[in-house]
Amino acid sequence: ANETPARHQPPTATHDSAFLKACRREPVPHTPVWFMRQAGRSLPEYRKVREGIPMLESCTRPELVTEITLQPVRRHDVDAAIYYSDIVVPLKAIGIDLDIKPGVGPVVERPVRSRADLARLRDLTPADVPYVTEAIGLLTRELGATPLIGFAGAPFTLASYLVEGAPSRTYENAKAMMYGDPELWADLLDRLADITAAFLKVQIEAGASAVQLFDSWAGALAPADYRRSVLPASAKVFQAVAGYGVPRIHFGVGTGELLGLMGEAGADVVGVDWRVPLDEAVRRVGPGKALQGNLDPAVLFAPREAVEAKTREVLDAAAGLEGHVFNLGHGVMPSTDPDALTRLVEYVHTQTAR
Ligand code: CP3
Repeated sequence: ANETPARHQPPTATHDSAFLKACRREPVPHTPVWFMRQAGRSLPEYRKVREGIPMLESCTRPELVTEITLQPVRRHDVDAAIYYSDIVVPLKAIGIDLDIKPGVGPVVERPVRSRADLARLRDLTPADVPYVTEAIGLLTRELGATPLIGFAGAPFTLASYLVEGAPSRTYENAKAMMYGDPELWADLLDRLADITAAFLKVQIEAGASAVQLFDSWAGALAPADYRRSVLPASAKVFQAVAGYGVPRIHFGVGTGELLGLMGEAGADVVGVDWRVPLDEAVRRVGPGKALQGNLDPAVLFAPREAVEAKTREVLDAAAGLEGHVFNLGHGVMPSTDPDALTRLVEYVHTQTAR
Protein backbone atom coordinates (compact mmCIF):
# COMPACT_ATOMS: atom_id res chain seq x y z
CA ALA A 1 0.00 0.00 0.00
CA ASN A 2 1.09 3.49 -0.82
CA GLU A 3 0.73 6.40 1.57
CA THR A 4 1.73 9.02 -1.01
CA PRO A 5 -1.33 10.36 -2.83
CA ALA A 6 -1.15 11.06 -6.53
CA ARG A 7 -0.60 14.78 -6.75
CA HIS A 8 -0.76 15.37 -10.48
CA GLN A 9 1.45 18.43 -10.33
CA PRO A 10 1.89 20.33 -13.57
CA PRO A 11 5.30 19.63 -15.12
CA THR A 12 6.38 23.18 -14.27
CA ALA A 13 6.43 22.25 -10.56
CA THR A 14 9.03 19.58 -11.31
CA HIS A 15 10.91 21.94 -13.58
CA ASP A 16 11.05 24.50 -10.74
CA SER A 17 12.27 21.98 -8.13
CA ALA A 18 15.43 22.81 -6.18
CA PHE A 19 17.16 19.77 -7.69
CA LEU A 20 16.60 20.72 -11.34
CA LYS A 21 17.37 24.37 -10.62
CA ALA A 22 20.72 23.43 -9.04
CA CYS A 23 21.52 21.20 -12.04
CA ARG A 24 20.86 24.22 -14.28
CA ARG A 25 22.95 26.45 -11.96
CA GLU A 26 19.99 28.66 -11.10
CA PRO A 27 19.36 30.12 -7.62
CA VAL A 28 17.76 27.61 -5.22
CA PRO A 29 15.66 27.94 -2.02
CA HIS A 30 17.94 25.35 -0.38
CA THR A 31 20.71 23.00 -1.52
CA PRO A 32 18.95 19.91 -2.89
CA VAL A 33 19.92 16.49 -1.52
CA TRP A 34 19.65 12.93 -2.78
CA PHE A 35 21.78 9.85 -2.15
CA MET A 36 23.24 7.38 -4.58
CA ARG A 37 21.81 3.95 -3.57
CA GLN A 38 19.18 5.69 -1.41
CA ALA A 39 16.82 2.83 -2.30
CA GLY A 40 18.12 -0.45 -1.00
CA ARG A 41 19.37 -2.46 1.88
CA SER A 42 19.77 0.38 4.39
CA LEU A 43 15.96 0.49 4.56
CA PRO A 44 14.04 -2.22 6.49
CA GLU A 45 10.98 -1.55 4.30
CA TYR A 46 13.14 -2.42 1.25
CA ARG A 47 14.41 -5.65 2.77
CA LYS A 48 10.80 -6.57 3.55
CA VAL A 49 9.38 -6.08 0.04
CA ARG A 50 12.43 -7.74 -1.59
CA GLU A 51 12.13 -10.91 0.54
CA GLY A 52 12.32 -13.97 -1.74
CA ILE A 53 12.56 -11.93 -4.95
CA PRO A 54 15.89 -12.04 -6.83
CA MET A 55 17.43 -8.62 -7.56
CA LEU A 56 17.07 -8.68 -11.34
CA GLU A 57 13.53 -10.03 -11.17
CA SER A 58 12.57 -7.19 -8.82
CA CYS A 59 13.63 -4.70 -11.53
CA THR A 60 11.02 -6.09 -13.95
CA ARG A 61 7.98 -5.61 -11.66
CA PRO A 62 6.60 -2.08 -12.16
CA GLU A 63 4.58 -1.92 -8.90
CA LEU A 64 7.53 -3.15 -6.86
CA VAL A 65 9.94 -0.78 -8.65
CA THR A 66 7.56 2.09 -7.90
CA GLU A 67 7.27 1.18 -4.23
CA ILE A 68 11.05 0.76 -3.75
CA THR A 69 11.83 4.02 -5.59
CA LEU A 70 9.35 5.93 -3.39
CA GLN A 71 10.54 4.48 -0.07
CA PRO A 72 13.53 6.82 0.46
CA VAL A 73 11.53 9.82 -0.79
CA ARG A 74 8.86 9.22 1.88
CA ARG A 75 11.32 8.47 4.62
CA HIS A 76 14.09 11.03 4.08
CA ASP A 77 12.40 13.93 2.26
CA VAL A 78 15.13 13.86 -0.39
CA ASP A 79 14.83 16.30 -3.31
CA ALA A 80 14.92 13.66 -6.04
CA ALA A 81 14.04 10.01 -6.56
CA ILE A 82 16.35 7.63 -8.43
CA TYR A 83 14.73 4.96 -10.53
CA TYR A 84 15.16 1.55 -8.90
CA SER A 85 17.00 -0.69 -11.36
CA ASP A 86 20.59 -1.73 -11.95
CA ILE A 87 23.30 -0.90 -14.47
CA VAL A 88 23.19 -4.46 -15.84
CA VAL A 89 19.42 -4.45 -16.54
CA PRO A 90 19.75 -3.35 -20.21
CA LEU A 91 22.35 -6.08 -20.81
CA LYS A 92 20.07 -8.71 -19.28
CA ALA A 93 17.23 -7.29 -21.43
CA ILE A 94 19.13 -8.00 -24.67
CA GLY A 95 19.79 -11.56 -23.60
CA ILE A 96 23.22 -11.47 -22.00
CA ASP A 97 23.43 -14.35 -19.54
CA LEU A 98 24.17 -12.52 -16.32
CA ASP A 99 22.97 -12.40 -12.75
CA ILE A 100 23.51 -10.30 -9.64
CA LYS A 101 24.89 -12.51 -6.89
CA PRO A 102 23.99 -11.26 -3.39
CA GLY A 103 27.02 -9.79 -1.64
CA VAL A 104 29.11 -10.12 -4.82
CA GLY A 105 27.59 -8.13 -7.66
CA PRO A 106 27.07 -8.76 -11.38
CA VAL A 107 28.47 -11.99 -12.81
CA VAL A 108 28.44 -12.88 -16.52
CA GLU A 109 28.22 -16.54 -17.52
CA ARG A 110 30.25 -16.17 -20.74
CA PRO A 111 32.51 -13.08 -20.60
CA VAL A 112 32.98 -10.98 -23.73
CA ARG A 113 36.58 -11.57 -24.88
CA SER A 114 36.55 -11.87 -28.68
CA ARG A 115 35.08 -10.31 -31.80
CA ALA A 116 32.65 -13.23 -32.05
CA ASP A 117 31.41 -12.39 -28.55
CA LEU A 118 30.56 -8.86 -29.69
CA ALA A 119 27.76 -10.20 -31.88
CA ARG A 120 25.86 -11.12 -28.70
CA LEU A 121 25.44 -7.43 -27.93
CA ARG A 122 22.47 -6.48 -30.05
CA ASP A 123 20.64 -3.14 -30.02
CA LEU A 124 18.16 -2.40 -27.26
CA THR A 125 14.64 -1.32 -28.23
CA PRO A 126 11.85 0.01 -25.96
CA ALA A 127 10.06 -3.33 -26.47
CA ASP A 128 12.93 -5.04 -24.58
CA VAL A 129 12.14 -3.07 -21.41
CA PRO A 130 8.35 -2.52 -21.26
CA TYR A 131 8.49 -2.62 -17.45
CA VAL A 132 10.72 0.49 -17.44
CA THR A 133 8.20 2.57 -19.36
CA GLU A 134 5.37 1.27 -17.21
CA ALA A 135 7.15 1.84 -13.88
CA ILE A 136 8.24 5.36 -14.78
CA GLY A 137 4.68 6.20 -15.81
CA LEU A 138 3.43 5.05 -12.40
CA LEU A 139 6.25 6.84 -10.63
CA THR A 140 5.95 10.26 -12.21
CA ARG A 141 2.26 10.30 -11.20
CA GLU A 142 3.10 9.40 -7.59
CA LEU A 143 6.07 11.74 -7.31
CA GLY A 144 4.26 14.97 -8.13
CA ALA A 145 6.85 17.77 -8.16
CA THR A 146 9.74 15.53 -7.05
CA PRO A 147 12.03 14.85 -10.02
CA LEU A 148 12.89 11.31 -11.05
CA ILE A 149 16.49 10.58 -12.01
CA GLY A 150 16.98 7.89 -14.64
CA PHE A 151 20.37 6.20 -14.92
CA ALA A 152 22.60 3.80 -16.77
CA GLY A 153 26.07 2.34 -16.47
CA ALA A 154 28.69 4.02 -18.66
CA PRO A 155 30.35 1.95 -21.41
CA PHE A 156 33.61 1.43 -19.49
CA THR A 157 31.94 0.27 -16.28
CA LEU A 158 29.61 -2.07 -18.20
CA ALA A 159 32.58 -3.39 -20.17
CA SER A 160 34.47 -4.02 -16.95
CA TYR A 161 31.74 -6.50 -15.89
CA LEU A 162 31.24 -7.99 -19.37
CA VAL A 163 34.94 -8.63 -20.05
CA GLU A 164 35.97 -9.65 -16.53
CA GLY A 165 32.82 -11.73 -16.02
CA ALA A 166 32.63 -10.65 -12.38
CA PRO A 167 33.50 -7.70 -10.14
CA SER A 168 37.22 -6.96 -10.30
CA ARG A 169 39.67 -4.70 -8.53
CA THR A 170 42.33 -4.80 -11.22
CA TYR A 171 40.41 -5.01 -14.52
CA GLU A 172 43.23 -7.06 -16.06
CA ASN A 173 41.10 -8.65 -18.78
CA ALA A 174 39.42 -5.38 -19.71
CA LYS A 175 42.77 -3.59 -19.82
CA ALA A 176 44.34 -6.46 -21.78
CA MET A 177 41.72 -5.87 -24.47
CA MET A 178 42.00 -2.08 -24.26
CA TYR A 179 45.80 -2.13 -24.76
CA GLY A 180 46.11 -5.34 -26.79
CA ASP A 181 43.23 -5.03 -29.26
CA PRO A 182 42.23 -1.37 -29.27
CA GLU A 183 39.98 -1.85 -32.28
CA LEU A 184 37.91 -4.57 -30.63
CA TRP A 185 37.80 -2.50 -27.42
CA ALA A 186 36.59 0.59 -29.30
CA ASP A 187 33.91 -1.44 -31.07
CA LEU A 188 32.78 -2.97 -27.77
CA LEU A 189 32.49 0.45 -26.10
CA ASP A 190 30.70 1.86 -29.12
CA ARG A 191 28.12 -0.97 -28.99
CA LEU A 192 27.65 -0.35 -25.27
CA ALA A 193 27.24 3.38 -25.92
CA ASP A 194 24.34 2.65 -28.29
CA ILE A 195 22.68 0.29 -25.81
CA THR A 196 23.16 2.76 -22.96
CA ALA A 197 21.83 5.69 -25.00
CA ALA A 198 18.76 3.67 -26.00
CA PHE A 199 18.14 2.72 -22.37
CA LEU A 200 18.40 6.35 -21.20
CA LYS A 201 16.06 7.48 -23.99
CA VAL A 202 13.40 5.01 -22.83
CA GLN A 203 13.63 6.49 -19.32
CA ILE A 204 13.51 10.12 -20.47
CA GLU A 205 10.64 9.51 -22.85
CA ALA A 206 8.71 7.80 -20.04
CA GLY A 207 9.19 10.86 -17.79
CA ALA A 208 12.62 10.92 -16.09
CA SER A 209 13.65 14.56 -15.57
CA ALA A 210 17.41 14.00 -15.27
CA VAL A 211 19.83 11.17 -16.03
CA GLN A 212 23.00 9.97 -14.35
CA LEU A 213 25.67 8.00 -16.14
CA PHE A 214 27.54 5.83 -13.62
CA ASP A 215 31.13 5.28 -14.67
CA SER A 216 31.80 3.91 -11.22
CA TRP A 217 35.11 2.22 -12.00
CA ALA A 218 36.65 4.75 -14.45
CA GLY A 219 38.97 5.86 -11.63
CA ALA A 220 41.07 2.78 -12.47
CA LEU A 221 42.31 4.58 -15.60
CA ALA A 222 45.05 7.13 -16.23
CA PRO A 223 43.79 10.33 -17.89
CA ALA A 224 45.46 9.63 -21.25
CA ASP A 225 43.88 6.16 -21.45
CA TYR A 226 40.51 7.52 -20.36
CA ARG A 227 40.67 10.22 -23.03
CA ARG A 228 41.68 7.84 -25.81
CA SER A 229 39.78 4.67 -24.98
CA VAL A 230 36.72 5.62 -22.92
CA LEU A 231 35.73 9.26 -23.35
CA PRO A 232 34.54 8.91 -26.98
CA ALA A 233 31.96 6.26 -26.01
CA SER A 234 30.67 8.21 -22.98
CA ALA A 235 30.51 11.36 -25.12
CA LYS A 236 28.40 9.46 -27.64
CA VAL A 237 25.90 8.58 -24.89
CA PHE A 238 25.64 12.17 -23.66
CA GLN A 239 25.34 13.48 -27.21
CA ALA A 240 22.52 11.04 -27.96
CA VAL A 241 20.35 12.46 -25.16
CA ALA A 242 21.42 16.12 -25.44
CA GLY A 243 18.33 17.07 -27.43
CA TYR A 244 15.94 16.31 -24.56
CA GLY A 245 17.31 19.17 -22.46
CA VAL A 246 17.29 17.12 -19.23
CA PRO A 247 20.36 17.53 -16.98
CA ARG A 248 23.02 14.90 -17.53
CA ILE A 249 25.05 13.85 -14.47
CA HIS A 250 28.35 11.96 -14.77
CA PHE A 251 29.82 10.12 -11.77
CA GLY A 252 32.70 7.82 -10.95
CA VAL A 253 34.69 6.79 -7.87
CA GLY A 254 38.34 7.85 -7.46
CA THR A 255 38.10 10.11 -10.51
CA GLY A 256 39.95 13.12 -9.08
CA GLU A 257 42.38 13.10 -12.02
CA LEU A 258 39.54 12.65 -14.54
CA LEU A 259 37.06 15.32 -13.40
CA GLY A 260 37.86 17.71 -16.24
CA LEU A 261 37.59 14.94 -18.85
CA MET A 262 34.33 13.63 -17.38
CA GLY A 263 32.86 17.10 -17.75
CA GLU A 264 34.26 17.33 -21.26
CA ALA A 265 32.48 14.09 -22.18
CA GLY A 266 29.26 16.10 -22.11
CA ALA A 267 27.95 16.27 -18.55
CA ASP A 268 25.96 19.20 -17.15
CA VAL A 269 26.68 18.03 -13.59
CA VAL A 270 29.89 16.29 -12.50
CA GLY A 271 29.70 13.93 -9.52
CA VAL A 272 32.69 14.04 -7.17
CA ASP A 273 33.70 11.44 -4.59
CA TRP A 274 34.98 12.46 -1.14
CA ARG A 275 38.68 12.50 -2.07
CA VAL A 276 38.60 15.91 -3.75
CA PRO A 277 37.06 18.91 -1.93
CA LEU A 278 34.42 20.68 -4.02
CA ASP A 279 36.33 24.00 -4.18
CA GLU A 280 39.23 22.09 -5.78
CA ALA A 281 36.87 19.99 -7.94
CA VAL A 282 35.36 23.14 -9.48
CA ARG A 283 38.84 24.25 -10.56
CA ARG A 284 39.42 20.87 -12.22
CA VAL A 285 36.01 20.76 -13.93
CA GLY A 286 36.04 24.37 -15.08
CA PRO A 287 33.15 26.80 -15.53
CA GLY A 288 29.66 26.06 -16.83
CA LYS A 289 28.95 22.85 -14.92
CA ALA A 290 27.26 22.08 -11.61
CA LEU A 291 28.85 19.69 -9.10
CA GLN A 292 27.32 16.86 -7.11
CA GLY A 293 28.67 15.40 -3.88
CA ASN A 294 30.57 14.64 -1.75
CA LEU A 295 30.28 13.47 1.85
CA ASP A 296 32.19 10.25 2.52
CA PRO A 297 29.44 7.63 3.05
CA ALA A 298 31.49 6.14 5.91
CA VAL A 299 31.09 9.41 7.86
CA LEU A 300 27.48 8.34 8.55
CA PHE A 301 28.78 5.72 10.99
CA ALA A 302 30.18 8.49 13.25
CA PRO A 303 28.15 10.31 15.95
CA ARG A 304 25.73 13.04 14.85
CA GLU A 305 28.10 15.91 15.80
CA ALA A 306 30.85 14.47 13.60
CA VAL A 307 28.44 13.98 10.70
CA GLU A 308 27.36 17.61 11.03
CA ALA A 309 30.95 18.87 11.19
CA LYS A 310 31.94 16.90 8.08
CA THR A 311 28.77 18.04 6.28
CA ARG A 312 29.62 21.64 7.20
CA GLU A 313 33.01 21.16 5.52
CA VAL A 314 31.29 20.01 2.32
CA LEU A 315 28.86 22.93 2.38
CA ASP A 316 31.67 25.43 3.05
CA ALA A 317 33.71 24.07 0.14
CA ALA A 318 30.58 24.34 -2.04
CA ALA A 319 29.76 27.90 -0.93
CA GLY A 320 31.23 29.53 -4.04
CA LEU A 321 29.73 27.07 -6.56
CA GLU A 322 27.12 28.08 -9.09
CA GLY A 323 25.22 24.82 -8.80
CA HIS A 324 25.55 22.26 -6.01
CA VAL A 325 23.58 19.06 -5.55
CA PHE A 326 24.43 17.55 -2.17
CA ASN A 327 25.11 13.80 -2.25
CA LEU A 328 27.45 11.24 -0.79
CA GLY A 329 30.78 10.59 -2.49
CA HIS A 330 29.54 7.07 -3.37
CA GLY A 331 26.49 4.95 -2.58
CA VAL A 332 24.82 4.48 0.80
CA MET A 333 26.39 1.48 2.51
CA PRO A 334 23.89 -1.29 3.35
CA SER A 335 24.49 -1.12 7.13
CA THR A 336 23.96 2.67 7.35
CA ASP A 337 21.43 3.78 9.99
CA PRO A 338 18.57 5.22 7.91
CA ASP A 339 17.85 7.80 10.64
CA ALA A 340 21.33 9.25 10.07
CA LEU A 341 20.34 9.83 6.43
CA THR A 342 17.05 11.50 7.39
CA ARG A 343 18.91 13.79 9.82
CA LEU A 344 21.48 14.62 7.15
CA VAL A 345 18.81 15.75 4.67
CA GLU A 346 17.25 17.98 7.32
CA TYR A 347 20.64 19.40 8.31
CA VAL A 348 21.57 20.34 4.74
CA HIS A 349 18.14 21.85 4.12
CA THR A 350 18.18 24.02 7.27
CA GLN A 351 21.84 25.03 6.91
CA THR A 352 21.36 26.19 3.32
CA ALA A 353 17.82 27.72 3.51
CA ARG A 354 17.84 31.13 1.83
O1 CP3 B 1 18.82 3.79 -5.00
C1 CP3 B 1 19.49 3.70 -6.04
O2 CP3 B 1 20.62 4.22 -6.16
C2 CP3 B 1 18.87 3.05 -7.26
C3 CP3 B 1 19.23 1.71 -7.49
C4 CP3 B 1 20.59 1.26 -7.98
C5 CP3 B 1 20.98 -0.10 -7.84
N1 CP3 B 1 22.15 -0.28 -8.50
C6 CP3 B 1 20.20 -1.12 -7.14
C7 CP3 B 1 20.94 -2.25 -6.55
C8 CP3 B 1 21.61 1.90 -8.70
C9 CP3 B 1 21.72 3.36 -9.10
C10 CP3 B 1 22.58 0.91 -9.02
C11 CP3 B 1 23.78 1.20 -9.83
C12 CP3 B 1 24.88 0.24 -9.84
N2 CP3 B 1 24.84 -1.13 -9.87
C13 CP3 B 1 26.24 0.63 -9.93
C14 CP3 B 1 26.71 2.05 -10.02
C15 CP3 B 1 26.62 2.71 -8.68
C16 CP3 B 1 27.80 2.43 -7.79
O3 CP3 B 1 27.58 1.87 -6.71
O4 CP3 B 1 28.92 2.78 -8.17
C17 CP3 B 1 27.02 -0.53 -9.97
C18 CP3 B 1 28.52 -0.60 -10.03
C19 CP3 B 1 26.14 -1.65 -9.93
C20 CP3 B 1 26.47 -3.09 -9.98
C21 CP3 B 1 25.98 -3.75 -8.73
N3 CP3 B 1 24.67 -4.12 -8.52
C22 CP3 B 1 26.70 -4.02 -7.54
C23 CP3 B 1 28.17 -3.78 -7.34
C24 CP3 B 1 25.79 -4.56 -6.61
C25 CP3 B 1 26.04 -4.95 -5.15
C26 CP3 B 1 26.11 -6.41 -4.92
C27 CP3 B 1 25.95 -6.70 -3.43
O5 CP3 B 1 25.06 -7.50 -3.11
O6 CP3 B 1 26.65 -6.09 -2.62
C28 CP3 B 1 24.53 -4.62 -7.24
C29 CP3 B 1 23.27 -5.09 -6.65
C30 CP3 B 1 22.30 -4.02 -6.31
N4 CP3 B 1 21.89 -3.05 -7.17
C31 CP3 B 1 21.61 -3.88 -5.08
C32 CP3 B 1 20.74 -2.79 -5.23
C33 CP3 B 1 19.75 -2.24 -4.22
C34 CP3 B 1 21.79 -4.78 -3.86
C35 CP3 B 1 21.24 -6.12 -4.08
C36 CP3 B 1 20.04 -6.46 -3.21
O7 CP3 B 1 19.44 -5.59 -2.58
O8 CP3 B 1 19.69 -7.65 -3.22
